[in-house]
Amino acid sequence: MVTYEQIVNCAGAIRSAVGGAEIGVVLGSGLGDYVEALEDAKYIDYKDIPGFPVSTAPGHEGRWWTGKLHGKTVCMMQGRLHAYEGYDLDLITMPIRIMKLLGVETLILTNAAGGVNESFKPGTLMILTDCINFSGKNPLTGPNMDEFGPRFPDMTYAYAPELIDLCEKQAEKIGADCVRKGVYMWFNGPCYETPAEIRLARVCGADAVGMSTVPETIIANHCGMKVLGVSCITNMAAGILNQKLDHSEVVEVANRVKATFRQLLDATIEAM
Ligand code: HPA
Repeated sequence: MVTYEQIVNCAGAIRSAVGGAEIGVVLGSGLGDYVEALEDAKYIDYKDIPGFPVSTAPGHEGRWWTGKLHGKTVCMMQGRLHAYEGYDLDLITMPIRIMKLLGVETLILTNAAGGVNESFKPGTLMILTDCINFSGKNPLTGPNMDEFGPRFPDMTYAYAPELIDLCEKQAEKIGADCVRKGVYMWFNGPCYETPAEIRLARVCGADAVGMSTVPETIIANHCGMKVLGVSCITNMAAGILNQKLDHSEVVEVANRVKATFRQLLDATIEAM
């Protein structure tokens, strides 16, 4: 089980290597190149942070970056941790608490996701308005860390309404007509969902499904951060099209839209 001391120690190691930050960004599958946007960038490899877990998912580098973007100090996780890698949820979400100790008040979570809403297309960018925890697990299970927040945190505004509006306005401003809003539903993975699970997701009110983001959202809300979530819809979810799903499609579409994704995040961070 992750201890408060472990989080403090990791934060200390990161602070002395690359410094603190006011905005944190977690980069999802295929979106890791966004670190190139940072000025005066410094990084530390996850493996060089004592007590920090190392990401094993393909396309997730495992580097913690800090730099400047539009005059703001931003840290970026190039490589996130997923429940399907076998890590406990408290370890997966430890980086969010580390960010909190490093001064981050605004968190941007990005991911690749499958589109459930049939009006979406591969390449749609979805601003998260809410999420559904369909995993049966919760990263806050166990003794509460009072240093970070209350036992029963509110999740009414899991994604900050003002950040949703801001991001939507910036999408209009940059003319990104592929941007929509919707609800993200978390499945554990690593297998993709079945067509029956996708029909269930739709009945539940989901617009997209994916294997990340919700644990980090819960932990960020617990410690009082404002969260913005943006999904890159890389494929239509299982059973919508008469074809199998493949990780190479996820990577290919993420690559195709990463310039727009980057423009959207850039404009949003500039306007924050
Ligand atoms: N399901 C779950 N996770 C995903 C998908 C999907 O269809 N596409 C990209 N990540």
